[in-house]
Amino acid sequence: MNLTRLVYYSQRNPSVSMNMPELMKTCHRNNSGMNVTGILHYNGNAFLQVLEGGRAEVSSIYHRIAADQRHINIILINCSDVRERMFPTWSMGLHEGMDDATKGIFLRYFASNNVNPETVSAESLLDVLQDLSAELN
Ligand SMILES: Cc1cc2nc3c(=O)[nH]c(=O)nc-3n(C[C@H](O)[C@H](O)[C@H](O)COP(=O)(O)O)c2cc1C
Repeated sequence: MNLTRLVYYSQRNPSVSMNMPELMKTCHRNNSGMNVTGILHYNGNAFLQVLEGGRAEVSSIYHRIAADQRHINIILINCSDVRERMFPTWSMGLHEGMDDATKGIFLRYFASNNVNPETVSAESLLDVLQDLSAELN
């Protein structure tokens, strides 16, 4: 009950430096304190992130993320109540890069491996992220 999944897409702000290890430390600290889990895919230019947890907690973290100068053009793709977490294992799993295996996963669900997340369904994006998360195990 009261479990929410939020999916958004954004682009790296080229004018602001990005320290991924530092960012992940913050994610782990804050998310684990609020029982929020999820996955963050970063291909070097863009982010695709899922946050799962209580409505208030997901909402609070998302508002902070949306105000962060390190990324721009933040597009909320989906936010809905769910019965079960899809990404229960990580306070925030990080999947980085676009190697051949990653391209193959995108091509499993989309016509091209550089699909614009704004133009496709949240369900298909979640399929991709779930397959990417299997690579993190
Ligand atoms: C792409 C991206 C993803 C982020 N994901 C999270 C996250 O999952 N959890 C989180 O607490 N902060 C996340 N942040 C950082 C927040 O924007 C913000 O800097 C942070 O929550 C501040 O936490 P602090 O007050 O503990 O330093 C993210 C930032 C970016 C750019």
